[in-house]
Amino acid sequence: MKKIISVVGARPNFMKVAPLYREFKKYDDKIQHLICHTGQHYDEKMSKIFFDELELPKPDFYLGVGSGTHAEQIAGVMVAFEKVLQQEMPDLVIVVGDVNSTIACSLVASRFGIKVAHVEAGLRSFDRSMPEEINRMLTDTIADYLFVTEQSGINNLHHEGIREDRIFFTGNVMIDSLVHYLPKVEKSDILQKLSLSPRDYILVTLHRPANVDTEEGLKGLFGMLNRISAKKKIVFPIHPRTKNNLEKYGLTNIVSGNILLTDPLGYIEFVSLIKNSLLIVTDSGGIQEESTYLQIPCITVRDNTERPVTVTVGTNRLIGTDTGKVEKAVDEILEGKIKRGHIPELWDGHAAGRICKIVAEFI
Ligand code: UD1
Repeated sequence: MKKIISVVGARPNFMKVAPLYREFKKYDDKIQHLICHTGQHYDEKMSKIFFDELELPKPDFYLGVGSGTHAEQIAGVMVAFEKVLQQEMPDLVIVVGDVNSTIACSLVASRFGIKVAHVEAGLRSFDRSMPEEINRMLTDTIADYLFVTEQSGINNLHHEGIREDRIFFTGNVMIDSLVHYLPKVEKSDILQKLSLSPRDYILVTLHRPANVDTEEGLKGLFGMLNRISAKKKIVFPIHPRTKNNLEKYGLTNIVSGNILLTDPLGYIEFVSLIKNSLLIVTDSGGIQEESTYLQIPCITVRDNTERPVTVTVGTNRLIGTDTGKVEKAVDEILEGKIKRGHIPELWDGHAAGRICKIVAEFI
């Protein structure tokens, strides 16, 4: 029997590990698959609801690391995960995405000589001021198996000299979750709950430190959202980082009446909001992919994206952080100038199946 530990830490990790958990059950005669939750995200609304909705079991290990500076968070995960590995000595550690928990656990596993698989490898924004970019690069350097979602990832790994036989183009596990839960999404009553009509609202999420950690940044963005909301209702499920910063700078009154701020939503409700929206304004990574799959126009408020296929093939437009340009891009969509897209290669709901098959062969 081989032992595998998959690591989750923050909100965008949960929907990536859920399909792996389901697939590994098919191999339960030869693979024991365990889940370690670092506790980077810990709230009911940032964590627990996702375990419930995505039918993930109670984690086998919970490290309870919580918030803090990046150094505190990464170091805290490392110290706690080292104890788990000492006790369990798995044959493989699987990490996903690019959050602090991803790099922290990869580093510890490599020190024990335990093989590491990185799901969603090779993505690069080429912006080293993003903590996620450093997390991605370092994790890919450590990883023994690199599972890639799009062609750009393969090209990037080649340029960085990663051995060809470690790289596998397997598709997008986050889209696996989306495909799997679409029937439940169809039944969600979130639109009624929030008194919304399909295609009659703009969905906004903004939480990148570069956008929301300064007073000027927040004032600029909310000024823009206020102007946009005069033309179309905005729904903004607000991330704790953004909410905390609005409070910190005394800006909670800046939000206009036609912007509906909600608490962070669960997976099913949030995907339903994406699917029924007129357009999305975001600085998230994953939402660029989900909107591409659901063919909803997406305006990305960043200067770069590590997911370029969402722009070249999908519905995403990379507009940058100039609020005038974002507003113009929104206006174009409101006037009916809509970018149509296609679904990228291998975003078909079967990525986790491919990954587990490869893992089962190799370990
Ligand atoms: C992290 C990831 C980011 C991902 C995002 C999704 C890193 C470097 N960043 O950023 O890539 O897009 O998660 O959400 O790993 N907080 C709560 N409750 C929680 C979790 C956080 O209130 O359950 C608050 C805390 O005040 C915390 C702040 O949110 O200080 C930021 O959380 P943190 O995990 O440090 O980073 P995120 O901004 O969420």
